[in-house]
Amino acid sequence: MRIPDHVEVAIRRQAERGGTLNCYLYDTAPMREKIAHLKSIMPAGVEVFYAMKANPHSAFLQAAREAGAAGIEIASLGEAEKAEAAGFAPRQLIYTGPGKSPEELRWSVAQGIRTVHIESLLEAHRLDCICAELRREQDVLLRINANFDIHEAQTTFSGGSKKFGVDEEKLDALLPELLALEHLNFRGLHVYAASGVLNVDDLLKNCRLVFDMAQKIEAEHPDVVCDTIDFGGGFGIDYLEAGKEFDPGAYAEGLAEMIDDYGFDGRTFFLELGRYLAADSGWFCSEILDIKESRGKKQVVCAGGINHFRRPAALAINHPLAIVRMARPPLFDGQELVHDEKVYFGGPLCTGADKLANDIHIDDAAVGDIAVFGYAGAYGLTMSNIEFLSHHRPEEIVLS
Ligand SMILES: Cc1ncc(COP(=O)(O)O)c(C=O)c1O
Repeated sequence: MRIPDHVEVAIRRQAERGGTLNCYLYDTAPMREKIAHLKSIMPAGVEVFYAMKANPHSAFLQAAREAGAAGIEIASLGEAEKAEAAGFAPRQLIYTGPGKSPEELRWSVAQGIRTVHIESLLEAHRLDCICAELRREQDVLLRINANFDIHEAQTTFSGGSKKFGVDEEKLDALLPELLALEHLNFRGLHVYAASGVLNVDDLLKNCRLVFDMAQKIEAEHPDVVCDTIDFGGGFGIDYLEAGKEFDPGAYAEGLAEMIDDYGFDGRTFFLELGRYLAADSGWFCSEILDIKESRGKKQVVCAGGINHFRRPAALAINHPLAIVRMARPPLFDGQELVHDEKVYFGGPLCTGADKLANDIHIDDAAVGDIAVFGYAGAYGLTMSNIEFLSHHRPEEIVLS
């Protein structure tokens, strides 16, 4: 990984302030460019939402708003509050996720958010009762657990037994009951297959599957139109830097052809993207506090571990890593260094699970240098074990 010049400058400036360096650096320019690019290439009707679970920092929400994202995909009331604080109107919020509490559903209806994505029959009934009490109606999409999975994806959200949505096989029995709920306006389907998908054809296969479902529903229920279809998130990031970047142009082309084939022009299509938009707008930067040799392998210990950057351990992958050399004088003769070898990177926590990277080749590193982990803008601090051992929260520094 090559650290962009302005990021390295910021790291050095931060180091000059003294104290142990352990922070996230954010530059949201890549995210802004990606949103603008997607908006320019996607077929008519496609709306790009930011899935803020990837990074709820206000800089990312602001970037999404200023770059013209259609809105925010929220998964809790806390996210809704942050999105509103960043200037998004309730009509720009779409609400997904299992286990929405009655309070969260009530808030959604009272505020008039755009769509609530129904994850179970019980949730549909609960929402309908709340609407009745508030004398309101609510547009809903039905989330389907499709009978299909993308085996190579980092995380799958459909196929097999899942807590997400309702099983595809149960659709015929469940839909009439959903349609009969007086206060819910059925607007269409939500099928989110998987996260971290690099192969465009896999995601297009998911689109075709949802289109088939929509066609079948409309054939069986002549009064129903699935006028909104949500494909979820899933555009992947090439964490291994293996030259396999996701190709949004190919996706846009494939989707346009499909919309044409199915005669679905004029409908609305949601993309709720997290990782793809946010990942390359952030770096986790952590000072190397210790290096020791242990039974044939160097153990490099950084100031922050899975309490601040859990993703590599959670997904059992290495993020790209580069070292900013600081040329700090050694504390004693014979102090260990890393030179042209594969090493282990961990943090300061008292668990063997505290892994930042393993068997990663490093040219040169010494105590006092800064380990810089790339693609840390998505699912970085937000999915970390922040309270474990009560280390101070890493600073999140916004460059732009
Ligand atoms: C419902 C939903 N939408 C969107 C996303 C964002 O996915 P990604 O970061 O892969 O784009 C997620 C991620 O878990 C999700 O659960």
